[in-house]
Amino acid sequence: MASDLTAPILDALSASDTPILSSEAFPSDPSLKVKSALDRLATRQMVEYETIDKEIIELTPEGEEIATNGSHEAKVFDAVVKALDGLKIADLPAIVGKDNAKVGQGNAFKQGWIKKDKDLLRATRESIVDLTRETLLSVQRTNTLEDTKAIADLKRRKLITLTKAITFKITKGPKYAREFVKEETDLTFDMLSNGAWKDIEFKAYNFSAKGALTPSGALHPLSKVRAEFRNIFFEMGFEEMPTNRFVETGFWNFDALFVPQQHPARDLQDTFYIADPLTADGPREDPANDPHCPKNTQDKPLDYKKYWDNVHDVHEKGKFGSIGYRYPWSAEESLRLVLRTHTTSISAYMLHKLAANPRPARFFSIDRVFRNEAVDATHLAEFHQIEGVIADFGLTLGGLIGFMEVFFAKMNIHQLRFKPAYNPYTEPSMEIFGYHEGLGKWVEIGNSGMFRPEMLESMGIPKGMQVYGWGLSLERPTMIKYGVSNIRELLGHKVDLNFIESNPAVRLEK
Ligand code: PHE
Repeated sequence: MASDLTAPILDALSASDTPILSSEAFPSDPSLKVKSALDRLATRQMVEYETIDKEIIELTPEGEEIATNGSHEAKVFDAVVKALDGLKIADLPAIVGKDNAKVGQGNAFKQGWIKKDKDLLRATRESIVDLTRETLLSVQRTNTLEDTKAIADLKRRKLITLTKAITFKITKGPKYAREFVKEETDLTFDMLSNGAWKDIEFKAYNFSAKGALTPSGALHPLSKVRAEFRNIFFEMGFEEMPTNRFVETGFWNFDALFVPQQHPARDLQDTFYIADPLTADGPREDPANDPHCPKNTQDKPLDYKKYWDNVHDVHEKGKFGSIGYRYPWSAEESLRLVLRTHTTSISAYMLHKLAANPRPARFFSIDRVFRNEAVDATHLAEFHQIEGVIADFGLTLGGLIGFMEVFFAKMNIHQLRFKPAYNPYTEPSMEIFGYHEGLGKWVEIGNSGMFRPEMLESMGIPKGMQVYGWGLSLERPTMIKYGVSNIRELLGHKVDLNFIESNPAVRLEK
């Protein structure tokens, strides 16, 4: 550290018994540099210092000019007093210069040094004291000025500038020494074995130093809100559905849900189809070999083939009291593989399993779904769906509405509105709107309904058992809670990792 000031400071102190001022001892060194050296010495108590903030006043070039040659108004007065019969106003610029005439005339009037007599200027006295010049001369010598009104006035006239100067008043500390010895930071084997440790100065621990930031992982906001929803579901007695099947057959994604094969949702523009393999296997003849057939149901082994045939019939000719859609149902279409467009495919699968051993049940899932949509600020081709299902005997629409009120209240949404809607698999169906206090408006927060008998009876759910279902996106509440307006900032390749790392662990909401 060639330019380090620690040694010069120690030298300067040794030569003097009185405190030294940095402005005198090190006039040309920047105060930051002086301070860093002082801090190093002060932590070892070799010096003590005080900081003195001082305002320094300096003359501008124009101020210098006036200090040498006098003020504008003095120049005007000189010209006027010399003209014994008065000075023609129009002649003044030619004598003192345009600028002096302009500024000086007004000031000389204000001082009462000159007066106007028709088109002539006359002096009111024989001599004046040029106070502006006197003041500037004194500032030039001392770099200070007591009179704050004069400071403001000279500053306004751009004759002086003010700068802050920091001066350090330095004295010897209790451990002052001529030499700044480098302190050791580590006690080594050598120091111990050769006894050098006895004479070595060790650097004191700095317990107030801020430690280096520990790199750590961070939970994505979607993961945090997902955890909150899972807790709500568990608290309300729901079981989590296995959602690891991203690729589904058209059967589970659509047909089981009584979505006709011509339904627009099944178009290429809305659904991603798998190219290889194109289709899945059909149901096995022997249910025991069928992976879709639940095994552990002694009471009533479920026949997937029979279910498949029921779905076929209920679409094509109607069954269970329904007249069906009346179109030729294609098994091929049903076996086409898709990226699931909703997790309701899982609900269908789980309800089919439940039908083997019907009991009141509550299921939920939160996982990814895929839709072939144009991507914009609020839509992505993949997002997360929160899905809930309640199966029980004697359920009513009023019960669904009541449940929704309790469910959403747990997420702090207390005002709900329900709007009749259409889903192929539920009747009645309702869109759910919640009043968003922050946005001051109603926002759609979910879709719900009671599953149709065409769907439930095909899979063997007994008559008299009803099933509520509802779904919402995980992204929407997360965007609202974390103040994200563009979904691409939340999910996908444009996500800023700093945002993920720095978003609060806990949100304090009303
Ligand atoms: N599957 C619906 C959706 O994608 C949600 C839903 C699930 C609606 C269950 C009714 C019943 O929005």
